[in-house]
Formats: sequence, C-alpha cells, structure tokens
Amino acid sequence: MASFSNGLLAVAILSLLASAAHAQLSPAFYAVTCPDLESVVRSVMAQVVGQDPRMGASVIRLFFHDCFVNGCDASVLLDDTPTMRGEKNAMGNMNSLRGYEIIDAIKSRVEASCRATVSCADIVALAARDSVSLLGGPSWTVLLGRRDARTASVDAANANLPPASDNISSLVTKFAAKGLDLRDLTALSGAHTVGAARCSSFRPHVYSDANVDPAFAMFRRRICPATGGDSNLVPLDSTSPNRFDVSYYRDLMVRRSLLHSDQELFNNGPADDLVRLYSSSGSAFNRDFTAAMVKMGNISLLTGSDGEIRLDCRRAN
Ligand code: HEM
Ligand SMILES: *[C@@H]1O[C@H](CO)[C@@H](O)[C@H](O)[C@H]1NC(C)=O
Ligand SMILES: *[C@@H]1O[C@H](CO)[C@@H](O)[C@H](O)[C@H]1NC(C)=O
Repeated sequence: MASFSNGLLAVAILSLLASAAHAQLSPAFYAVTCPDLESVVRSVMAQVVGQDPRMGASVIRLFFHDCFVNGCDASVLLDDTPTMRGEKNAMGNMNSLRGYEIIDAIKSRVEASCRATVSCADIVALAARDSVSLLGGPSWTVLLGRRDARTASVDAANANLPPASDNISSLVTKFAAKGLDLRDLTALSGAHTVGAARCSSFRPHVYSDANVDPAFAMFRRRICPATGGDSNLVPLDSTSPNRFDVSYYRDLMVRRSLLHSDQELFNNGPADDLVRLYSSSGSAFNRDFTAAMVKMGNISLLTGSDGEIRLDCRRAN
C-alpha cells in the first residue's frame, strides 16, 4: 500500500514537472487527475467504430486538420460566433470534416468523472490513436498535456490544409512548414487506407489526369459524373476501405489512387521509394506512421498555463 501511494505521488510529481516544463507532453499527464481517461475514450471509440467504421477515419482526419491549423489545440472544434469565423467552414472542412459529435460524446463522459481537467485537444489525439488501432492498424503511446485554444481561424485553415489538387512539391512544402519531412508526409498519407472522398475531391483526377489507370478511372466516373453528384462518396482505398493496412500504397503503385495528391506520391518523384517500401512492409509503415503521428501531435502546442481546458469543445469558456 505504501509503495502504491508512493508510486502515485511520483506520478503526480512527474506530471506537475511535465506541466511546468513548457511545451513538453507526458504520457502520464492525467494519471492522477483522470486515471480512467484512456479507457473511457477507448470504449466510446470501440462502440462508434463498431457501428460505423468510417467514423474512425473521420476522427483520424479531425486530428490532422486540428494539428495543421495553429497546432493541436482543438481550434477545429470551435463553432463560429458573431465575432469569429472558425475552421469548420474552411474549404477543406465544409461539408466534409465529420466526427464533431463523437468528440462531444467523449468529452461529456470525461467531464462527468474529471471535471474541467482534460483538454479537447488531448481527447482528439487519443480518439485518433484508438481509431487507427480499432481499424486494425498499429497503436502507440499518446503524449498528453495539450491545452485548448480560445479562438480559431478560417483563414489559417484555408492556408494550411492541403487540397487534393496539390502537387508533390506543394505537399512537401506544406508539411515542412509543420516540421514534417518527406517520410512523415508519405507515411501519414497512408491514413487514406480508410475513409471516403466526395466526387468533387477526385473528379479532376479521374477525368483529366494522365497518371491514372484507365479502367480505374472509368470505374470511378460511374459514381462521379462530369457534372453533378458532387457529394457522391467513394472509398479512398478501394480494396479494403475499413481496414488500416498497406493496400493504399499498393493502389498507388498501380495508379489506382483516388486523389490527385495521393498519386503525386508515386509519380516518378521523391516519395516513390517510400511508397515501394511501405507497400511491401507493414512493419516499416507502422513504425513510420506511428512516429509521424507523434510528431504531428506535437505541432505548436499550448501547454502549462497557456490556453484553457475548454468545458464544451464547441465554445471557449
Ligand atoms: C497529404 C495531404 C493530404 C491531402 C491533400 C488530403 C486530402 C483529403 C481529401 C480531399 C479527402 C476527402 C475529403 C472529402 O471529399 O470530403 C481526405 C480524406 C481523408 N483524409 Fe486526407 N489529405 C491529406 C493528408 C491526410 C493526413 C495526414 C491524414 C491523417 C493522418 C488524412 C486522413 C484522411 C482520412 C482518414 C480521410 C477520410 C475521412 C472520412 O472518410 O471522413 N489525410 N483527405
Ligand atoms: C506545383 O504547384 C505549385 C503551386 O500551385 C506551382 O507553383 C508549381 O509550379 C507546381 N510544380 C510543378 C512541378 O508542377
Ligand atoms: C515536441 O516539441 C518540443 C518543442 O518544440 C520538443 O522539445 C520535443 O522534443 C518534441 N517532442 C517530440 C516527441 O517530438
């Protein structure tokens, strides 16, 4: 008993140190203040992904779109107010990004047991990790201690979220601006092994690009007419849309990727060798993907006493 409480004390001191040391996260951040956090997030996500596997994909994307716009600060979750245009209506998010209500559901369960303690930004990071592993991908330790922004920016979202029309050099530039290299870009894009895209996102690729398998292009045009049907959905990975595996990279190598930006990773360019590697090695992919998710989760954080612990993920306190 004595050594048990000594252990708790040590963890408490560690997490205090972690919050004092600016910009440093810790896996034990909530070990004392919210010990059941990870099991609550996991159980909600297990239920959600069991009912609608695509929602797992949507939550993974939510984490990316949070981190790429002013850092991983849950700014993406803020609703517009009369004085602030938030990120939900940015080009890359409007009628596209989903999963907000899942984060709300987790947050209300977490608030019930640990009031005003856990940030929305950390909930998104944990829910994204659980989505990957529940869909059959790797798992990893999520570093915690992010705090939530009080504002969001539609302009920052429009400037930072890459569109499907981007070429490889734009993708490399946008990721480099976030401290992510070609390896991170190529591994993180493997998240397109799950989830779906709207016709409006992939139409130019299946009608006008040269580097696409003609039979695949014809097949996708059937769901995506030259005009109309903008919101018709097609899986990003046509082989195993609900399975977090390396078939995304195999599709790239036979020019059967759905998005222009994806095929840019295998088009006689700098990412070709990494695509070949991941297509044939699940362990190399899992290693690089998890390392890149940890790096992405570390972009421009609010820590210590910066920002706040939002009570409702949709509005600042
Ligand atoms: C490399 C630059 C990237 C571009 C240009 C890009 C673009 C897109 C586009 C256009 C869609 C379809 C949206 C729609 O039609 O509604 C999409 C979906 C998705 N993206 Fe990306 N993405 C990129 C990187 C990433 C990264 C880094 C992740 C996560 C680590 C990610 C995760 C996803 C997921 C899981 C979906 C499916 C979401 C769902 O079904 O709700 N993407 N992406
Ligand atoms: C890639 O896109 C950027 C921005 O749209 C453009 O300036 C550049 O010329 C393009 N590069 C290539 C190689 O097509
Ligand atoms: C996160 O970023 C901080 C400050 O920028 C850095 O000191 C730290 O090493 C990074 N941690 C990881 C896991 O990348």
